[in-house]
Amino acid sequence: MTRHFDLGGDLRINRMGFGAMRLPVSSLHGPANDRDTGLKILHRAVELGVDHIDTAAFYYHQDGLAANEMIRAALSPYPSDLVIATKVGPYRGEGDSHPTGQLRAAQLRAEVERNLTELGRDHLDLVYLRPGGIEDPDDEPVGERFAVLAGLREEGLIRHLGVSHVSPAQLEEARRIAPVAAVQNRFDVTQPQDTELLAVCEREGIAYVPYFPLGGFGVPDDARVNAIAARHGATVPQALLAGLLALSPVMLAIPGTGSPSHLEENMAAADLALTPQDLAELRT
Ligand SMILES: NC(=O)c1ccc[n+]([C@@H]2O[C@H](COP(=O)([O-])OP(=O)(O)OC[C@H]3O[C@@H](n4cnc5c(N)ncnc54)[C@H](OP(=O)(O)O)[C@@H]3O)[C@@H](O)[C@H]2O)c1
Repeated sequence: MTRHFDLGGDLRINRMGFGAMRLPVSSLHGPANDRDTGLKILHRAVELGVDHIDTAAFYYHQDGLAANEMIRAALSPYPSDLVIATKVGPYRGEGDSHPTGQLRAAQLRAEVERNLTELGRDHLDLVYLRPGGIEDPDDEPVGERFAVLAGLREEGLIRHLGVSHVSPAQLEEARRIAPVAAVQNRFDVTQPQDTELLAVCEREGIAYVPYFPLGGFGVPDDARVNAIAARHGATVPQALLAGLLALSPVMLAIPGTGSPSHLEENMAAADLALTPQDLAELRT
């Protein structure tokens, strides 16, 4: 199994990355996490080979602890090979615990600039347009908003573009405007509902980056995954992550955690080689 992926054709990254959403706060209405623990997790992630971190300016706790600030504090000056991906689109008002709406096209430049400032970067490696709410993606038009990001890419503020939480039709609409380097949709190996989109990504060399790779709201209890974990003497989260990476060479993992021990466990999943039998079972 290849360990690397060439994002956008020119940024070589490890397929096992890290999602920063759980650094400031573990659950929607939970308390803020410990900042020092989060900084240690980021240091350790990079030490373990993470060179792709997924974040967003709207990943913060109401008390102020924010993923972008933590990433900058822990890792800046950044390793030259570190790819930081961010998402724009969702609107989160003051006092809200999570995004409740969408920014308009005219507001996206300011959101990109906010990410640049918070992260202390002069350009962003990968910016996803993330339309919609929490319900399944629909086919609402994304062209006007994606065109704004394409313009910022032309200006050099963004290296590669992505789309997140999209339908196949929305991906195609975006691709008619500018190259799409990555798709970030909800997917875990127990609910592989995005097969059509994944096939497009494989055909076009687009990264497929699942969010909620460990189920989102608790590690899934799935007989096939439990059996794979048991056969390999691995944990269920490790089997879920190894399963993702084994399913497709365009799959990138970005498991999130606020726990140092979970980080160690999750990163070790990159070394778990699934057998053809495991894969055949996962595909049933
Ligand atoms: N585009 C989007 O709409 C969207 C939506 C959601 C997330 N994301 C991105 O996707 C990334 C991945 O999603 P996620 O972090 O929400 O994934 P996830 O599948 O929900 O996994 C994270 C959850 O699993 C727990 N966990 C992590 N490792 C574990 C382990 N080894 N054993 C037991 N529990 C474990 C975490 O708790 P602990 O903190 O206790 O480990 C946390 O509750 C996010 O970090 C974010 O960057 C994007």
